[in-house]
Amino acid sequence: MKRIKAVYPGSFDPPTNGHLDLIERGSKIFDELVVAILRNPEKDPLFSVTDRRQMLESMTEGFDNVSVDTFHGLTVDYALRVEARAILRGIRAISDYEYELQMALMNRKLQPGLETVFMMPAEKYSYLSSRLVREVAELGGAIDCLVPELVAQKLREKMDVAHKFDEGDAAARQESELKVAERMTPERVTERKTKSRKRKS
Ligand code: PNS
Repeated sequence: MKRIKAVYPGSFDPPTNGHLDLIERGSKIFDELVVAILRNPEKDPLFSVTDRRQMLESMTEGFDNVSVDTFHGLTVDYALRVEARAILRGIRAISDYEYELQMALMNRKLQPGLETVFMMPAEKYSYLSSRLVREVAELGGAIDCLVPELVAQKLREKMDVAHKFDEGDAAARQESELKVAERMTPERVTERKTKSRKRKS
């Protein structure tokens, strides 16, 4: 019997519970599933490819038939290279459909032998996206039910670092404001006002 291998391509920045749900579903219908992270030098991701790979590897270690890889270039070329016969993509809501259809049809045009298979994650994840997770985390919201614990931990670490940078900025700002204030003796304020009046007249 032919074994069917599929590729699940994406950015996974970061991987969410929705992605994990889809991986689990995919692992049940395909003999082999490769989660393939796109290496896109034009994008400025929150997590490096190495971080994303690590997170996905840890999230999927319980699945015997799931592996994680990275790729660049066309998804169809990568799929052919690893001898996959299908591309797995998730559709959460009708709003995903147009983009996914366009992509699936373009991929079919490029490689007619490859099929795109759409699966729906559990309804409870239908609102979930990496972009929203990043936004909620950046603004200090709770992300624990949205991503696996390891990802939540990594996000918290990232946000702590970002926060420290902000605090650093604030401290630097305060210091420079103090320096300006120190220079502003009453005599200097009067001198400045006089100069300004002269300029206006
Ligand atoms: O998780 P994302 O960002 O929705 O994934 C999009 C992805 C990586 C599947 C898509 O951008 C892609 O396949 N990029 C690789 C380049 C490619 O094949 N482009 C033509 C697609 S029709």
